[in-house]
Amino acid sequence: MDNNERNDGLATCSPRLAGEGSGVRPLMLAHRSVRRFTDEAVDEALLQEMLACGIRASNTGNMQLYSVIATTQEPLRSELCKLHFGQCATAPLWLTVCVDVARYHHYCRLNQCDEPYGNLLWFTSALVDASLCAQNICLAAEDRGLGFCYLGTVNYNTRQIADLLQCPKGVVPVIALAMGHPAEEPRRSERLATDAILHRETYHVPSDDELIESHRVRDDDPFNRRMVEENGTRNYCEIFTTKRYPRAMNESVSRDLLQFLKDSGMWDF
Ligand SMILES: Cc1cc2nc3c(=O)[nH]c(=O)nc-3n(C[C@H](O)[C@H](O)[C@H](O)COP(=O)(O)O)c2cc1C
Repeated sequence: MDNNERNDGLATCSPRLAGEGSGVRPLMLAHRSVRRFTDEAVDEALLQEMLACGIRASNTGNMQLYSVIATTQEPLRSELCKLHFGQCATAPLWLTVCVDVARYHHYCRLNQCDEPYGNLLWFTSALVDASLCAQNICLAAEDRGLGFCYLGTVNYNTRQIADLLQCPKGVVPVIALAMGHPAEEPRRSERLATDAILHRETYHVPSDDELIESHRVRDDDPFNRRMVEENGTRNYCEIFTTKRYPRAMNESVSRDLLQFLKDSGMWDF
């Protein structure tokens, strides 16, 4: 049993639980992000099937305040890839999942109703709905042998991506997925043990020792140790705070994002 299997909680679940159910749990537990793809296109029927799975996810009030933009054609595909800093350049299918209150407001107008959803409450609600939809799409994709990578860079160039994809006011790109047939079999990355995540009845603030112990799986991971060497940082944590997601960049991106939300009418309260 490797560290991941221990962390999945499979070690502690009863034989009865371990043996039951469909193939969905093995699929989930085998997940790994894929960043390199073959040049085979994703079949339209498969796209439709994934979308059908995506929109079946629970969503706030069943209002479906999201839209999914599928980009496959050049030069748009390459332009979009550039806005994601060239990541996943071989992906044939790009899905940009957007918070979308524009469609519902249109529906409101046609029904002579108020248009009350351009605010923080509905941005966060729609963001959750969009995330659930995206993750259902991803599960359906993996079930069909596709690979994908979420791209957080959607938050770094939101305005430019919205412009490129001709999003109207009230439509905010929040999730990006690069998807296709895998051309690599990446390692399965580590996770904290379920004990570090699960709190019984109320929140338990870990002691220093508990925190260090729970993060050993991360800090001692050979792949992560190699990253520390390559980055010349004191530890794994410092790669994130000084190189991948440092404060100045976080704050600058946050300012741009907030301004975009204001400009797009998602911050009216
Ligand atoms: C919202 C979100 C944004 C992400 N952004 C990026 C990204 O910009 N580039 C990238 O290579 N991976 C990105 N990832 C993938 C994560 O790095 C990956 O899920 C994590 O390292 C765990 O690895 P695994 O998915 O292979 O288990 C993102 C994942 C999520 C959920």
